[in-house]
Amino acid sequence: MAKEAKTRNRIIIGNWKMNPVSQKEAIKVFSSLADAVGKKTKTAKVICPPFVYLSELKKIAKGKSIILGAQDVYPEIYGAYTGEVSPFMLRDLGAQYVIVGHSERRAMGETDELINRKIKILLKEGLKAILCVGEADYDETGAYLEVIKGQLLSALAGVPRKQFENIIIAHEPVWAIGQNAKGADTPERFQHNSIFIRRLLTELTSKNIALAIPIIYGGSVTIKNAEMFLRAGEADGLLVGRESLLADNFAEIIKIADRL
Ligand code: PGA
Repeated sequence: MAKEAKTRNRIIIGNWKMNPVSQKEAIKVFSSLADAVGKKTKTAKVICPPFVYLSELKKIAKGKSIILGAQDVYPEIYGAYTGEVSPFMLRDLGAQYVIVGHSERRAMGETDELINRKIKILLKEGLKAILCVGEADYDETGAYLEVIKGQLLSALAGVPRKQFENIIIAHEPVWAIGQNAKGADTPERFQHNSIFIRRLLTELTSKNIALAIPIIYGGSVTIKNAEMFLRAGEADGLLVGRESLLADNFAEIIKIADRL
């Protein structure tokens, strides 16, 4: 049992992706969730809805314990960037966390260089960055670890040490994400991968800084496997896709994290 793991508070993040289909539905899911999770708990709870729902959800989140996040950002403050959204705008709409480098965005052509710029601007602007890293394929010789290493080092290149406290690393194996996935990874493998990631973070910063960075698991998380990842896998939290749109299930995952 890693003693230091206890010093990191757990964080459960819901990534709604391009769902639900209407603002009315988004309000409904968010309100039920806020009611189901109740008051402040020791686990941090974040929902990352589509940008367009943020301002309405900000009103509901007021006085509630769920924090808002976003699923992406553009690495400039304002200007001629048609269709993009800046860190300022996100902060103004109540987002405190932003997902960067999700595999679905990488698949749309997002480069390591762009991800690095996004991470840097978010941290500079005082937002928290949820950096997603993950391999497309698992292999027993560990070649996939080089993929994780490459993504991590390029995303964090040039980030000042003192800003690492606002970073969360989500390991999401691409093969474990979404409806057509083979299913979730195993807690044992997550634990190994998170040690590997923390080792890299130590080399980039210092032992103390690296030990404070939450490393969370994502990919087909459900109420059935959440506890395994948090307990046996010693995950500092979870990044939940589909299941975060089911208010009762997501609330249950938060309760599981709170009980540990
Ligand atoms: P999933 O998505 O839980 O639906 O597999 C996870 C993610 O993409 O963050």
